[in-house]
Amino acid sequence: MQILHTVSDIRHCIKNWRNAGQRIAFVPTMGNLHAGHLQLVQEAKHHADKVIVSIFVNPTQFGVNEDFADYPRTETADCEKLAAESCDVVFLPTVEMIYAPNAQTTVSVSDVSKNYCGSSRAGHFDGVATVVCKLFNIVQPDISLFGLKDFQQFVVILTLVRDLHLPIELIGVPTVRELDGLAMSSRNGYLNSVARETAPKLYQTLQQARDELIAGQAITVVEQHAITKLTQAGFIVDYFKVAKRSDLQFATLDDNALIILVAAKLDTTRLIDNLWVDK
Ligand code: PAJ
Repeated sequence: MQILHTVSDIRHCIKNWRNAGQRIAFVPTMGNLHAGHLQLVQEAKHHADKVIVSIFVNPTQFGVNEDFADYPRTETADCEKLAAESCDVVFLPTVEMIYAPNAQTTVSVSDVSKNYCGSSRAGHFDGVATVVCKLFNIVQPDISLFGLKDFQQFVVILTLVRDLHLPIELIGVPTVRELDGLAMSSRNGYLNSVARETAPKLYQTLQQARDELIAGQAITVVEQHAITKLTQAGFIVDYFKVAKRSDLQFATLDDNALIILVAAKLDTTRLIDNLWVDK
């Protein structure tokens, strides 16, 4: 496995692969890799001859009071995990390489960035869209894989690829969970032992809400019931919303392909999760 740090090294490497007619898959990450990330790499191997993973803690997607400085940076361990998955190249750029001091361009995906995480994390999805667009232009993959745990992020990237006519196929990979149901996340490491015991209630509440929707209960009643239960369990709920899976608009009684989206804090740790519902 090669570890490359510069745009020109990546370009040189992919040029050789392209000349050899090889298909390239790309998995962007912020590192601190867990089994969820590695699932994307394994899936990538089924779809391509070569797999590139980037590790870049992207400053522009963190708000001023968020955890950019504290975000876990574990590059040595990450590279060992990726080598064990037979990843071909790890791209480890510096902030200066991705954001030149005179950079002036931001990519913004309007509608689907607005609600949910977009309303509580101002500018977050502009940061995500901008860095993913830059990484796509550097790596120029045939396909790229994203986790469905970050469903709104996946819809933002789908929209970006469609609107900018990028010739990249996107694949969404189902959420990998701990045995107790908690969605794997680099931020789970922030939870103390009490919060870690409470955390699986997020997924359990999603499952109960799904059952209530399928039983025909009104959406607002289901949402309010879930918010009350999570609050009683010690969460500070940011949002718990039933949406249409196709465009993330708020759902109504007549919609069938739904997704329940939740973000909630335990102490200072913000967790997100979601669950698909087909009525
Ligand atoms: P990061 O949080 O490191 O996640 C990298 C990829 O792993 C994303 O596509 C995310 O959805 C996926 N992922 C995380 N946890 C997962 C889980 N439990 N199961 C399946 N997939 C999971 O998401 C980002 O980084 C950044 O926003 C990024 C896209 C790299 C842009 O900076």
